[in-house]
Amino acid sequence: MTDDFIPNLPAFDDAALDAAFAALEGKARADAAALDAEAFRLQWLGRKQGLLKEVSDRWLKAAPAHAKKAAGERFKVLKELVEKLAEEGAASGPGDDALRAQALDITLPGTRRLLGAEHPITRTMNEIVSVFAAMGYSVGTGPEVETDYYNFESMNLPPGHPARDTQDTLVIANQERRPLRDRLLLRTHTSPVQMRVMEQQPPPIRIVVPGKVHRNEADDATHSSIFHQVEGLCVDTNITFSDLKGTLDHAMKALFGSAVKTRFFPSFFPFTEPSADLQISCIFCGGKGCRKCKNSGWIELLGCGMVDPAVFAFAAEKQPAYDSRKISGFAFGMGPDRIAMMKYGVSDIGQFLGGDMRFLSQFA
Ligand code: PHE
Repeated sequence: MTDDFIPNLPAFDDAALDAAFAALEGKARADAAALDAEAFRLQWLGRKQGLLKEVSDRWLKAAPAHAKKAAGERFKVLKELVEKLAEEGAASGPGDDALRAQALDITLPGTRRLLGAEHPITRTMNEIVSVFAAMGYSVGTGPEVETDYYNFESMNLPPGHPARDTQDTLVIANQERRPLRDRLLLRTHTSPVQMRVMEQQPPPIRIVVPGKVHRNEADDATHSSIFHQVEGLCVDTNITFSDLKGTLDHAMKALFGSAVKTRFFPSFFPFTEPSADLQISCIFCGGKGCRKCKNSGWIELLGCGMVDPAVFAFAAEKQPAYDSRKISGFAFGMGPDRIAMMKYGVSDIGQFLGGDMRFLSQFA
């Protein structure tokens, strides 16, 4: 490995030895500065071709008997210096040469780690929840695999009720031996959580329930058999339809901007009476009429109504305080998938569950 040649010494007197060793000392210091630790070690301390070995062979062993001691002393000093320089070099870590020797190109860009981000549906649900949290609502949750009782019967959809047809879903197999009310299915709405929460606590109640729901739908650009809802339930003394209107009008303005107007259309849900659909003025055209609102100026956004006394009667089986002569309440259910589609200009609902990173990373 050595690229330097140690010449034979012309003479072995003190002056010649001093000059020869002084030159080598200078070279050792220069090498230590120029070479990385490993190259320096090889150059000077290499067992077969290191410079020290060379010096030992040519200068020590070749020295005449009278000069052996003088040469040996100087060799010892040089060796100690070289070893010290080698140690210092190793302690300062690999130099550029060593890195190059490992074929590591430090000019390459580093490994990029993708940052996670909230899914647009999660983000939308969180936004909705925080609007209601600011009005004193807390968050309730319930199971996605639900019983027939909570999903339908306690929501005033008794067995055979025609409105069950509009909420067909997957049912868990091999449950025929169980009573109908205990049979499990994938919940079709978040409304069963109304009942679960009321059974757990007496009024007053103000909750929102974000969650996933399932229905037998033919998937297309605007329908998905898996989608989401945010349920709301408010129960207290003297809750009126005005409270429902005021609460939802405020929530829509908080979500879509203060210029948004709301209107309520008569509708039907078995668990609310009266029931309404809430529409907001079109957020794309401001109500003038455009393609997005089918030229009506309005967009239908959620279902709502005053909690049906029949629902309170089911809750009263566990919590007698749900006496519809003493308390009243309103409920609503909205679809964050649709809201996210509007907010972010997504034209195919299937994108939300498709797992395509090109789609999802736009929201990062
Ligand atoms: N559960 C209803 C649905 O899924 C929405 C709704 C909730 C309507 C609460 C009124 C009150 O269609």
